Amino acid sequence: MRSAVAGGTGRIGALVVKRLRARGHDVVSLSRGQGVDLVTGEGLHGALAGVDVVIDVSNPAVAEVATAERVFAAVSENLLAAEAKAGVGHHIALSIAAADRVLGNPHYYGKRVQEQVVAAGPVPYTIAPATQFHDFPAMIADWSTVDGVSHVPPLLLQPAAPEDVADVLVELAEGEPQGRYADIAGPLTEDAVDMARRTRAAHADARPLRASWRGVALGVEFAGEVMLPGDGARITPTTFDDWLAAL
Ligand SMILES: NC(=O)c1ccc[n+]([C@@H]2O[C@H](COP(=O)([O-])OP(=O)(O)OC[C@H]3O[C@@H](n4cnc5c(N)ncnc54)[C@H](OP(=O)(O)O)[C@@H]3O)[C@@H](O)[C@H]2O)c1
Repeated sequence: MRSAVAGGTGRIGALVVKRLRARGHDVVSLSRGQGVDLVTGEGLHGALAGVDVVIDVSNPAVAEVATAERVFAAVSENLLAAEAKAGVGHHIALSIAAADRVLGNPHYYGKRVQEQVVAAGPVPYTIAPATQFHDFPAMIADWSTVDGVSHVPPLLLQPAAPEDVADVLVELAEGEPQGRYADIAGPLTEDAVDMARRTRAAHADARPLRASWRGVALGVEFAGEVMLPGDGARITPTTFDDWLAAL
């Protein structure tokens, strides 16, 4: 199988590329650092020759809603047009489990448009919505550090190991298009503040961290059970405790 990973140099992308190669598949990675800009389409011409499946785990940076919707639409439209031309038979888009349940921040608006473009597009698809990864709360803490203090919202999550999500994406790439796939989630619910504190402790990072809804990209609309996976979720094996212990 020949596959293309859009965003193949990113956190989840690198894990997907490694797994595809380990399973003997040809892989082409698409990122700006590798000469392909998915927003403008530059470098995409010819990049999908002979490709059977495209896995989109790209993550264009967006700061406000209108830009997010335009940029995520452009990425999917450019990819799908190139795929249709090259005869690609399967487009897989990694999405976010709660994106259809909470309006959220600009990234969520972009992900919803991405899902719409993929579902209406010319290539058979699988939309794979995942819950937050085990490293997400520590990322929020880093994004929201003001005057040396990090602010993490007390989110109730059912996070998954990024390695497990990469395994599921490879499994999906080796199978038939499924339309909208089940939410992909880890085995246990967790508290984001606790996860961020424990991840920092594992890195001997003693910067102060507070539970707070202020100053972060995730506001009170993310409270309660909205971030948890929907019915019939695909439950991945690695708990946050086990993932942290293996760092
Ligand atoms: N983190 C979570 O908890 C979570 C949960 C569920 C779903 N997701 C989804 O997972 C996806 C990947 O996230 P990630 O954290 O792995 O991303 P990441 O580490 O930020 O990687 C982003 C990748 O996209 C590429 N990229 C960005 N802009 C591009 C452009 N204009 N053209 C071509 N490539 C571009 C980057 O390479 P260059 O910079 O070289 O272009 C990089 O390879 C996101 O779409 C996110 O919604 C994340």
